[in-house]
Amino acid sequence: MRQAGAVVAKVLSQLQKIAKPGVTTAYLDGAALEMTLAARAEALFKGVRNPQARMPFPGAICASVNEQVVHGIPSERVVLREGDILSVDFGVRLNGYCGDAAVTVPIGGISAENRRLLHTTQEVLQIAIDGIRPGLRWSEIARRMQRHAESAGFSVVRDFVGHGIGTKMHEDPKVPNFVSDELLADDILLAEGMVLAVEPMINAGGYPVRTLGNGWTVVTRDGKCSAHFEHTLAVAEGGCAVLTREQ
Ligand code: CO
Repeated sequence: MRQAGAVVAKVLSQLQKIAKPGVTTAYLDGAALEMTLAARAEALFKGVRNPQARMPFPGAICASVNEQVVHGIPSERVVLREGDILSVDFGVRLNGYCGDAAVTVPIGGISAENRRLLHTTQEVLQIAIDGIRPGLRWSEIARRMQRHAESAGFSVVRDFVGHGIGTKMHEDPKVPNFVSDELLADDILLAEGMVLAVEPMINAGGYPVRTLGNGWTVVTRDGKCSAHFEHTLAVAEGGCAVLTREQ
């Protein structure tokens, strides 16, 4: 999983360098696919099916701009502009094991409010990285993550959550970034060796989202911006290891 995670980290780092005003999200997708194949890995998102969508997901990356929360479809028609924020979610399988991560990238100069949104969402993920250790219940960390986002005046998306990850991209358990009755009724006791993809999606406005007619792209209901950061984290002795960080 470290090897898969290293490929994910490298691709996301390269994409951050080439995501500039004037570049299309289709171009970023092509670059990601090329790097994936060069690493002899498999792009996890390409071809994923979903009952609401007529077509399987066509991209290697999810490219979600501004009010798009997740599952944006890379397109020649989506040209990045100065001031946009672009969330890129990307995963691979290498030698049978998966890695999954996401980052929100500023395109050129962005507003102070969007800078604060990106910074806060990164901090929310960092709370998980710093807080995870064997013996703790996930709800304790989720509570801290939610509190941090909400004390900044933002909201935590409810309809999409993190997940276990291993030989498949999405494994049990569900890993919410907020505390719900469902989580408290069936809390996750963190144990050494568990691997979780933790992925806070934080909205500048309210947390409700909706899915566009293509069956994939999720947007905020109020049209305000959303940010998304994700790492694949292995629960380890005394803490966790970030598997999708560049070495
Ligand atoms: Co994920």
